[in-house]
Amino acid sequence: MSKCIWLTGLSGSGKTTIANLLAAQYKDKGQLTCVLDGDQIRLGLNKDLGFTRSDRHENARRVAEVAKILVDLEILVIVALISPFSEDRHKARALFQPGQFIEVYVDTSLKRCATRDVKGLYTLQENGLIKNMTGITSPYEIPKNPDIHLRTDTTDAIECCELIKKHISV
Ligand code: ADX
Repeated sequence: MSKCIWLTGLSGSGKTTIANLLAAQYKDKGQLTCVLDGDQIRLGLNKDLGFTRSDRHENARRVAEVAKILVDLEILVIVALISPFSEDRHKARALFQPGQFIEVYVDTSLKRCATRDVKGLYTLQENGLIKNMTGITSPYEIPKNPDIHLRTDTTDAIECCELIKKHISV
């Protein structure tokens, strides 16, 4: 049974790095794998969406539906999406069979994300140039019961992938 590994966490928490590393490892083993990354999906399929609450709901809904199609084709799907609302993550899970949807909380403190500021967004936010910034002016609802909780302050990307692989067997 293929799976959907759904990485949720703040912008700059390391979701994309973990997703790409994990995908490369599974591809090396011959597993068909697909990464659905928020930044990339927003360049195409979801380019009509912004960062309001309703747009984020729609963003997560579309990504979940695409993930479902791919998982049904036996493709391992790794989603890297802030997906700040519990409701959206629950709805995504509900599309899948029990055990097929793995919610992974990429837990990096806001302070750390803002200090690293890989994309320069936190600086833009400080200067009033970005609205609805997740974790600051727009909420991030922490997963209450994630299948996997990665504490990236103390765990590097390689170890994070090992923890995910240990949890699932595709
Ligand atoms: S989500 O909240 O709708 O799930 P998604 O993962 O698709 O977000 O996109 C997040 C990416 O969009 C961030 O990593 C960042 O590069 C960019 N971005 C632009 N504006 C914002 C914002 N206001 N809040 C969060 N991320 C933003």
